[in-house]
Amino acid sequence: MKKPSTVLVIGASRGIGHELARQYREEGATVHATVRKEADAASLATMGCTVHTLDVTEGAHWSAFGKAIAAIDFDVAIHNAGVSGPRNDGPPTLAEFDDTMRANVWAAMLMSPVVGPRVAAAHGKLVVISSRMGSIAARDNPKFTTYRASKAAVNSVMKDAALTYGPQGMVCVAMHPGWVRTAMGGAGADLDVVDSAKGIRKTIDGLSRDDNGCFFNYDGGVMRF
Ligand SMILES: NC(=O)c1ccc[n+]([C@@H]2O[C@H](COP(=O)([O-])OP(=O)(O)OC[C@H]3O[C@@H](n4cnc5c(N)ncnc54)[C@H](OP(=O)(O)O)[C@@H]3O)[C@@H](O)[C@H]2O)c1
Repeated sequence: MKKPSTVLVIGASRGIGHELARQYREEGATVHATVRKEADAASLATMGCTVHTLDVTEGAHWSAFGKAIAAIDFDVAIHNAGVSGPRNDGPPTLAEFDDTMRANVWAAMLMSPVVGPRVAAAHGKLVVISSRMGSIAARDNPKFTTYRASKAAVNSVMKDAALTYGPQGMVCVAMHPGWVRTAMGGAGADLDVVDSAKGIRKTIDGLSRDDNGCFFNYDGGVMRF
């Protein structure tokens, strides 16, 4: 299976995104990684990544980032940045709702027309990191209602990107990274970040044109929307 030579990881300061950037560099890929805060660039730069500053909730940042990557074709791009939203039960405040939806949904809407053409140019793969918690079909409890709604919505954004750029040769999918021991997943989660990233990379390697618009688990299993 051909390994990707040029990879983009959006939201790589820590957690799953940071580990994906590390493993792709270890595999020998050219890696472009984005961070929100300049201070988080150093460890990625030390690995040999090209680091871009990007707050995914800032439209102006996407414009500047679009110019920076205008001549780069990505075999693989991973939209990983996300927030957990309010952890209390019941309806969110409007501010909590706005913050979560901006980071998890609006950002993906801004990402698609900037990154989609650069991945389509390489006939590559665009992966939106979603969550099992966004699956309406698999839902078995109502907690974290804002996060769940945001991940269900980002699956819809992914599908629109698949319909837009699929005909140009891109494969676009949503992916659940597993329940992972990060700041978001918590110390009691099932999976180490290394194993999550390994599974995500292997699943990406195995994607074909027929998978465009689908939803996968990190271990390659098919998820229901
Ligand atoms: N961990 C799990 O169990 C789990 C399960 C299902 C899905 N996921 C999804 O997996 C992805 C990564 O999660 P994680 O567990 O690695 O979480 P994490 O450790 O909390 O990392 C979140 C990442 O998103 C970035 N981010 C958040 N808001 C951003 C913004 N406005 N602009 C730019 N970057 C921003 C963070 O950057 P900063 O450092 O600047 O905040 C950080 O790099 C998320 O989409 C999450 O929803 C995680």
